[in-house]
Amino acid sequence: MKKIILITGVTGSLGKATATELAKNGCHVILLSRNSDKLPKVKTEIAGETGNSDIETVVADLSEPGSIRNAVTEIKSRHTSLNGLINVAAIFKSQRVENSEGYEYMFATNHLGPYILTNELLDLLKAGKPSRILTVSAPSTTKIQFDDLPGLKKFSGGFLGAFGSSKMMNLMFTYALARRLKDTGVTSNVFHPGLVKSDLLKESPKLMYGFFQIVSAKPDRAAKMLCSLATNDKYDNLNGTFMKYNGKKIKSSDYSYDEVLQEKLWLLSEQLALA
Ligand SMILES: NC(=O)c1ccc[n+]([C@@H]2O[C@H](COP(=O)([O-])OP(=O)(O)OC[C@H]3O[C@@H](n4cnc5c(N)ncnc54)[C@H](OP(=O)(O)O)[C@@H]3O)[C@@H](O)[C@H]2O)c1
Repeated sequence: MKKIILITGVTGSLGKATATELAKNGCHVILLSRNSDKLPKVKTEIAGETGNSDIETVVADLSEPGSIRNAVTEIKSRHTSLNGLINVAAIFKSQRVENSEGYEYMFATNHLGPYILTNELLDLLKAGKPSRILTVSAPSTTKIQFDDLPGLKKFSGGFLGAFGSSKMMNLMFTYALARRLKDTGVTSNVFHPGLVKSDLLKESPKLMYGFFQIVSAKPDRAAKMLCSLATNDKYDNLNGTFMKYNGKKIKSSDYSYDEVLQEKLWLLSEQLALA
């Protein structure tokens, strides 16, 4: 049976390369994107390159909880089980932007969106067990402003501000989810792709953007590893682990392993998701 895997961020660098790798490896791939114009093109390109036509699309804006829930309803009308979910999508903003609920945009897109999508798809993932959830992050050390979680008051951008904080949330979310999924047949791990050439930092200062373009690698190496983490039997029992593009386990900051803070984040996210 083909593994059915849903992946976000497929119009971007790492997401598209990983979706292509999944298709090459014979998976049935569900491509999720907010961009209904780009999606059919991405689907056609991946099908053409891989010869795999088991590719479908679903539109969702991860910054908008309502849009995610509509997409989940659509997915559930087409499938009764999933074998994998790969949360790749993220955004970097240099200025404070809000979603329709007034939440800071990077918090809404990079953390709350994947939090809602993953939780809403858990029953399908459990029905498809053994199945895997992978969330792409980075070794962020930025602490979370718990007294202003959705970023209603103060904004500071960059790696030490809202962006870095959202990547810390990806780490903590993964570890808290892994605890909840123990012995369910579903696993939750987090992945660091290394520096990958992409437009993710296009709103960062020109010099920084240029520097990252020079030192970053093509997405293929990280995509192969991410695909392997989603499909290879040798990762069956991997749960609650931070993995790097080279297949090595890495340790995130001590702060990210604080279970009290992880649970605080979970609870606040749950409340905001229901609001
Ligand atoms: N690049 C690096 O060096 C690096 C390093 C460490 C970690 N990472 C992580 O790797 C992941 C992929 O990054 P990348 O470099 O491939 O970035 P990218 O090329 O900019 O891709 C980002 C993807 O996220 C999607 N996205 C943004 N906002 C969205 C929203 N509201 N709803 C749905 N989708 C949305 C984008 O869609 P649109 O086309 O619609 O904008 C795009 O497909 C991210 O989680 C990033 O934090 C990257």
